[in-house]
Amino acid sequence: MTRIQKTVVLGAGTMGARIAAHFANAGLPCLLLDIVPKGAGGSTAERNGLVLAGIEAAKKSKPAAFFTPALAAKISVGNFDDDLGRIADADWIIEVVAEKDKTVYQNVVEKYGLIRDITWMIGNSPKSDINPALAAGLHAIFVPHGDTWILEHEEVNPAPAGQKLLIVGRFAELREHF
Ligand SMILES: NC(=O)c1ccc[n+]([C@@H]2O[C@H](COP(=O)([O-])OP(=O)(O)OC[C@H]3O[C@@H](n4cnc5c(N)ncnc54)[C@H](O)[C@@H]3O)[C@@H](O)[C@H]2O)c1
Repeated sequence: MTRIQKTVVLGAGTMGARIAAHFANAGLPCLLLDIVPKGAGGSTAERNGLVLAGIEAAKKSKPAAFFTPALAAKISVGNFDDDLGRIADADWIIEVVAEKDKTVYQNVVEKYGLIRDITWMIGNSPKSDINPALAAGLHAIFVPHGDTWILEHEEVNPAPAGQKLLIVGRFAELREHF
């Protein structure tokens, strides 16, 4: 089994910065990248402005994103134009997509050459995670959560023929299936 030592998160908005914070909380270094802001000057700080702002927002968030503010130092920053080469040796790369629908899932499958039969979408939202992933030909794992935002509620569709849908009460239950 690969031991995860280096992680990358692409997209440093609300979700991306907090996922990076969770990696830091787990003691893992994380490289966090985002687009170069429109109109940015040539300095590194300006070109990495969105990522720096994302980390600052995560530091101030309540409930806290970081177990301790000092953990933010575990996150390295960059941007897609200057730093994409730095993701090559990562063990785990997470791309945060702006929206999630069938076309987005299909594009992710195409872009990364994913093999549909061994690709699983895991999530708590029937509307954004499970139904569009099934529609895009992926397997799905639904982890229902009582606090799921009302706009994400939807009837969970059955898996089409040849695809699988697992429903588990807790993430840890996945060990019983994989
Ligand atoms: N915010 C939440 O509470 C929440 C909860 C669950 C799921 N999500 C999901 O997370 C995803 C991101 O949501 P968010 O709240 O972090 O959004 P956000 O707007 O805070 O962040 C989106 C990030 O994507 C970057 N971006 C914009 N255009 C881009 C492009 N063309 N190429 C690459 N990057 C680009 C932006 O710079 C920004 O940093 C969405 O799919 C959303 O449904 C969000």
